[in-house]
Amino acid sequence: MSRRCKHQKITIFSIGIYLIFSSWVLAQDQLHTRYSNIGRQATQAEVAAWDIDVRPDFKGLPKGSGSVAQGQDIWEAKCASCHGVFGESNEVFTPIIGGTTLEDIKRGRVNALIDRKHPQRTTFMKLATLSTAFDYIYRAMPWNAPRTLSVDETYSTLAYLLHLTEMVPAEFVLNEVNMMQLQNKMPNRDGMTTDHGLWQVSGKPDVRAVACMKNCIKEVKIESSLPDYARNSHHNLAQQNRIFGPYLGVDTTRPPLLELPNNSGLIKVVAKEVPRTLPTDDVRQGGTLFKKNNCAACHGMNHKVLGPSVVEISKKYQGKTEALATLTKKVKNGGAGVWGAVPMPANPQLADSDIKIILEWMINPQ
Ligand code: HEC
Ligand code: HEC
Repeated sequence: MSRRCKHQKITIFSIGIYLIFSSWVLAQDQLHTRYSNIGRQATQAEVAAWDIDVRPDFKGLPKGSGSVAQGQDIWEAKCASCHGVFGESNEVFTPIIGGTTLEDIKRGRVNALIDRKHPQRTTFMKLATLSTAFDYIYRAMPWNAPRTLSVDETYSTLAYLLHLTEMVPAEFVLNEVNMMQLQNKMPNRDGMTTDHGLWQVSGKPDVRAVACMKNCIKEVKIESSLPDYARNSHHNLAQQNRIFGPYLGVDTTRPPLLELPNNSGLIKVVAKEVPRTLPTDDVRQGGTLFKKNNCAACHGMNHKVLGPSVVEISKKYQGKTEALATLTKKVKNGGAGVWGAVPMPANPQLADSDIKIILEWMINPQ
């Protein structure tokens, strides 16, 4: 190849790069003009406040220390009410402590998980990585006031738990250095397995990820559905989720009926079919209006307050569109006698159209 030809190639190549780069800059510019008034760069302090994860290799573990004795005081003040004085309580959550032996600590594998003699799996029976305990307590506990523990308080409470697990003596002071060594004493450190199912432990893993390195298929399809045996195994999710806002639980008592067409994007959603006369946004608005107009003061989602629960009302009137007119009048003017002697107050301030939206939502609460 002649020098000139090589030179030409290089020039064409750099023009190519330049074009790609400038179109990228242009795209960024367009993005900036389109969204120029939204948000701002997070400050370093803000990022640091969120960036608190502690990895299994202890990267991210903040410096600090705390003793078993300090931990016991904090535990009794802030944790024992839910987890029991010795972390043994089964009331709010499964026990944290119990089911591990000195033999397990030596071996790195919890025998009670194998012989199944312990009645229940406790946290320290299952937990393979000590970093997770620190991360979780610092991030999420106490349950009613997460992120209120200081770093040292987190070390202390963890020291107390490690003492209850017989991993450290009563006078022990836990810090960021000896914590790494204690990983080697975790009773179930060699017990981590990903080779089991999520819903049925004896089943196959639900998810297997193999990273694609070359010739990867361009189109990714993500599907989401509940397997039949899991459906309703935790009772009806729709009744346990918040009733307002965009994240509403699926009614797990019913089989999935509706499959959105595949061309609706990458995600295929399997959800139940609810016969409605209103578009989904209006149904959500029904929930909002219900809350705004204080209906929730007398109508619980699943339980009777002064008036019948939304679920009862829904059961009674589902599919009966002819009832809508009478019910609208009743909400507007008040009345009694259908569910008992307690009257329902009048709501003259509400427009009929709003009442209709609320009623649609009450009858098909989802
Ligand atoms: C108001 C009740 C309550 C209080 C107080 C409380 N916890 Fe919890 N704790 C829970 C609940 C509920 C869970 C399970 C949360 C979940 O799975 O989402 C939990 C989970 C945990 C777990 C994880 C257990 C596991 O196996 O996943 C640890 C560890 C823990 N708490 C430690 C603490 C510590 C330390 C404190 C005190 C600083 C504390 N908790 C205070 C209710 C509480
Ligand atoms: C002060 C308590 C109270 C408030 C607030 C309240 N309700 Fe009621 N509601 C009742 C009672 C009590 C009944 C049962 C009346 C009956 O037995 O006929 C009832 C019944 C109903 C019924 C069923 C009526 C029937 O004939 O079956 C609907 C629908 C209803 N309420 C909707 C609403 C809506 C919508 C709101 C908010 C705008 C609301 N309620 C606010 C107490 C209340």
